[in-house]
Amino acid sequence: MNDALLEVRNLVTVLGQRTDILGRGLRGVRAVDGVDLAIRPGEIVGLVGESGCGKSTLARTILGVQREHAGEILLDGRTVGGLAPSVARQARKDIQYVHQDPGAALDPWWSIGRTLEEGLTILGNRSATDRRERVRRALTEVGLDPAMAGRYPHELSGGQLRRVGIARILVLQPRLVLLDEPTAGLDLSVQATVLRLLRDLRGRLGLTYLFISHDLAVVRALCDRIAIMYLGRIVELADTEQAFNAPRHPYTRALLAASPRLDSALVSDVPVLGEPPKPGAVPAGCAFHPRCNHAGEQCSHRKPESEMIAASHLVSCLRWRDLPAYTVPSRS
Ligand SMILES: Nc1ncnc2c1ncn2[C@@H]1O[C@H](COP(=O)(O)OP(=O)(O)OP(=O)(O)O)[C@@H](O)[C@H]1O
Ligand SMILES: [Mg+2]
Repeated sequence: MNDALLEVRNLVTVLGQRTDILGRGLRGVRAVDGVDLAIRPGEIVGLVGESGCGKSTLARTILGVQREHAGEILLDGRTVGGLAPSVARQARKDIQYVHQDPGAALDPWWSIGRTLEEGLTILGNRSATDRRERVRRALTEVGLDPAMAGRYPHELSGGQLRRVGIARILVLQPRLVLLDEPTAGLDLSVQATVLRLLRDLRGRLGLTYLFISHDLAVVRALCDRIAIMYLGRIVELADTEQAFNAPRHPYTRALLAASPRLDSALVSDVPVLGEPPKPGAVPAGCAFHPRCNHAGEQCSHRKPESEMIAASHLVSCLRWRDLPAYTVPSRS
């Protein structure tokens, strides 16, 4: 995609690779295992998949705090991959990350204002007046009282902490925001206001999002496209409505069937059962085959390639042509 804001090609991230005290190499886990993804300016791309499939690792590699093992990362068509984390962050300052747990990401001893100013100081902004003004503006932007700058994290509600997490990156004027579970743990009404805020900020500030979530109903409401990840790979990528109305990968169907807020009992496919395999012990062939209702003989030894099966619909499954027609759950 040549008009992409961000593009990653065949990205691989290995975690836990090191040498033990006896000098023996530990192989590590391929938490991201050959991901291709392009995001256009202004788009919201959802990233879903079970816990441990590598969503946060992919985001942290794109951000540059985790070094990739192989593959390319392009921002505005320029290569920003292959750099050590210290330089990578500088080259990717247009990309910011909203942490999965905003409470844990904040220093309890620092006021909100000090935390928000810190990023600006790191970026070399020396004027205290300018920093304070930017913090005031960011707090207003996320619907908080600028006086909140004097408060401490423990004095804030979960919803307010999420807003602070978003304000914290807005002061840095990003173009691409990686949102890691930005509504997890919030009650439905607070969740709705955070989602409204994100949509509104995208419109007003021209932001682009990679939106990580477990909640398919939220993803459906917010995202333009959805990437479904399984054991470090994207197994299906489609426009949101296409992904929900005509999913082609058995794993996507199983995720939809297992989603409690999507009338699961009415979906024809059986939900995924049991735990996914450990990323250190990825099955041969298609990594999903031991849990797949539709696996055939070839699936246990042939690795599926990503196939473009329709305009902007990619699937990585050897058997997608043989799957039964998909029944969209009735919403009665
Ligand atoms: N430092 C590490 N060393 C080895 N393995 C790790 C390390 N950190 C994470 N992992 C493993 O890498 C895999 C991917 O983890 P990651 O946090 O990216 O998953 P996730 O999709 O974000 O999960 P969740 O939905 O629970 O946040 C997991 O299996 C995890 O156990
Ligand atoms: Mg995560």
